[in-house]
Amino acid sequence: MIKPDAVAAGHIGAILAKINEAGFRIVAMKYTHLSQASAGKFYEVHKERPFYGELVDFMSSGPIVAAILEKDNAVADFRTLIGATNPAEAAEGTIRKMYAKSIGENAVHGSDSDENAEIEGNFFFNGLERF
Ligand code: CMP
Repeated sequence: MIKPDAVAAGHIGAILAKINEAGFRIVAMKYTHLSQASAGKFYEVHKERPFYGELVDFMSSGPIVAAILEKDNAVADFRTLIGATNPAEAAEGTIRKMYAKSIGENAVHGSDSDENAEIEGNFFFNGLERF
């Protein structure tokens, strides 16, 4: 996902270019705006965390871009491309180093496992929306 901060700052194109350059194939893509309820559901695994309310408010604060990306070793390679959750700790040249504002408003989300990638892909896309 490209998060509301990066969308509002006009970074959709630059972030997609980095994703393309890194060799990911776009299987599905959608520009949408999550409601509070759907943002809460997407991040349900973090429900008990102290930042959950803030996270849900932020993720429903403006439009996002959701995508399914395909590549060998996609989960690990995407996490390398985006950098650490906290942009202050992200490596030079990573998407979060370049475009994220803070640990909460951190430009992009990437799935943390193949299993969660499948769950998160199914959250946004049906079979007719994948190519
Ligand atoms: P993301 O990869 O989307 O997964 C969960 C999100 O929770 C994470 O990126 C951050 O945006 C957010 N998050 C994690 N830790 C904190 C924190 N300490 N304060 C606020 N938001 C956080």
